[in-house]
Amino acid sequence: MGKIIIKTPEQIEGIRKSSRLAAQTLDFAEQFVKAGVTTEFIDDKVEEFILSNNAIPAPKGYHGFPKATCISPNNVICHGIPSRNTILKDGDIINIDITTILDGYYGDTSRMFTVGEVSPASENLIETTFHCLDLGIEQVKPGNRFGNIGFVINRYAKAKGYSVVYEFCGHGVGIEFHEEPQVDHASRRNTGATMKPGMIFTIEPMINQGKPKANIDKSDGWTARTSDNKLSAQFEHTILVTETGHEVLTDIHEEYPVT
Ligand code: MF3
Ligand code: CO
Ligand code: CO
Repeated sequence: MGKIIIKTPEQIEGIRKSSRLAAQTLDFAEQFVKAGVTTEFIDDKVEEFILSNNAIPAPKGYHGFPKATCISPNNVICHGIPSRNTILKDGDIINIDITTILDGYYGDTSRMFTVGEVSPASENLIETTFHCLDLGIEQVKPGNRFGNIGFVINRYAKAKGYSVVYEFCGHGVGIEFHEEPQVDHASRRNTGATMKPGMIFTIEPMINQGKPKANIDKSDGWTARTSDNKLSAQFEHTILVTETGHEVLTDIHEEYPVT
């Protein structure tokens, strides 16, 4: 412990700006999500948008990742590589994950999009995953322990009949892409480090319809799929611990009050 960076006011302002741009980029991406479009096309548009805002897409070149965004459809849990061979079709559910570097600062956010009409089962998974992130965010306040985030997420997902991916986690973010701590989405109550004002990290639960296990595609070394090929959904925000609670830095729609 002790490796968790407490950000200075100047760093917080920089990370806030990058986070807002990442969220604006997700809004920008939405217009391209429709049947017949390839995930590579969306990635190209998003990359242009980020560059035109004087920022850099963090994934590109990160440990060899080839594209500007992660786009993960249906049974892909995370780290889907945008491709000209992945063509969206009616009924698909997809996660688009955007991380921007603006003036050296990182902001990281993702959400689900639907293509045309999706099944009630898909809707239910998406709604549940959205609520899992809400519940995690409610736990963010000084003095609380990181384990309580994963505790409430796991309890709720299980009650709805879903499973929580344990092989990928949230993370400290801002100065680097992935900082301490690791933020588990399934954990025990009152375990882990204690939250302090000035910490910034993501919560990004990945919730599966079936088994929690992830398999990485051998062909590309990135794409993480459900082991049973059932659906997976994810939402992600970048969150600052304030003196009294939290500020969701990637929330540009004021869905979360500053507490
Ligand atoms: N944005 C992802 C996250 O939420 C990380 C993507 S790593 C990459 O942590 F290399 F695939 F881009
Ligand atoms: Co993240
Ligand atoms: Co992300």
